[in-house]
Amino acid sequence: MKTIQIGNLEQPSSRLIYGCMRINGDNSAAAIGKGKTAIRAAIEAGYNHFDHADIYGGGSCETIFGEVIKESPQLREKLIITSKAGIRFANSPNAGDVGRYDFSKGYLMSQVEGSLKRLNVETLDLFLLHRPDYLFDPQEVAETFEQLKRQGKVKHFGVSNFSPSQVNLLQSATSEKLAVNQVEINIHNINAFNNGTLDQCLQQGITPMAWCPIATVVYQAWGNTFSAADEARILQEFSRQAEHYGCQPWVIAFAWLLLHPATICPIVGSTTPERIQQAKAALSLNYSREDWYRLLEARNGMPVP
Ligand SMILES: NC(=O)c1ccc[n+]([C@@H]2O[C@H](COP(=O)([O-])OP(=O)(O)OC[C@H]3O[C@@H](n4cnc5c(N)ncnc54)[C@H](OP(=O)(O)O)[C@@H]3O)[C@@H](O)[C@H]2O)c1
Repeated sequence: MKTIQIGNLEQPSSRLIYGCMRINGDNSAAAIGKGKTAIRAAIEAGYNHFDHADIYGGGSCETIFGEVIKESPQLREKLIITSKAGIRFANSPNAGDVGRYDFSKGYLMSQVEGSLKRLNVETLDLFLLHRPDYLFDPQEVAETFEQLKRQGKVKHFGVSNFSPSQVNLLQSATSEKLAVNQVEINIHNINAFNNGTLDQCLQQGITPMAWCPIATVVYQAWGNTFSAADEARILQEFSRQAEHYGCQPWVIAFAWLLLHPATICPIVGSTTPERIQQAKAALSLNYSREDWYRLLEARNGMPVP
């Protein structure tokens, strides 16, 4: 597995990151067993970086991962564990509560505490703010980061779904170097290429992590408004390229992200051991700039101007 240095993290991260959002399945014993198998398959395949959030499976994804750590405590020091917080669902904790974002100090401190307990670890290697809280006070977040670091609960910090101006705002308030911005990037959603996110990552040494990286190829991206004809055209180009490179069409989606100089780290969300392994093929495809643009053209339905 190829590796990459993210910020000032103590160890290099695998270029493909394993996303734990789906490891609970339907929370049945069988699904949880499958989730644990997926985690072990990812470690076996050379992934050393695992992405979590307090809300995944209502906490059960972190609990499942924590059980794997408990069963094999020697794994902990070899892994980079990332978690996120800041999203609060409707009716939580009280019936009638509205869905909201919350970066207040008390809330973030308690969520990190909960993640550490569920994951069975003393420290998070990376803690990300999950989605920008419209009401966030950068000074308060900076104090929260400092306290989490001082208490040894978090080593490094980053953000998710932040605009470049929100990154700049928070960075101006905290002495902690923001290490990552985790955003949605796939063939449907190319906002990060156009809205300055990847430019900022390159300029400021922030690593972009791409969530739902293979949306479009195997399922529809969130908020997708593409027509059936658009989809067919895009899939046809994926198939053509897959045949050319001798891989699965969805592997091309990873290669497309990996070519960008901002060193995008795709987050692999499959719970199927074979797919977790096969995704690595993207790292050695020798994917061309021409094919990158062919896929963009298929997506846009027209050549670049
Ligand atoms: N920061 C954020 O706001 C945010 C939001 C969403 C996600 N994330 C992170 O990003 C990670 C990855 O997202 P994701 O899970 O959507 O990743 P993904 O890798 O784009 O999608 C994985 C899903 O695609 C399915 N799949 C893969 N290959 C397939 C194939 N050939 N045919 C049919 N289905 C296939 C998988 O099913 P199987 O499991 O059956 O293989 C799984 O359900 C998450 O785990 C989470 O850590 C972050």
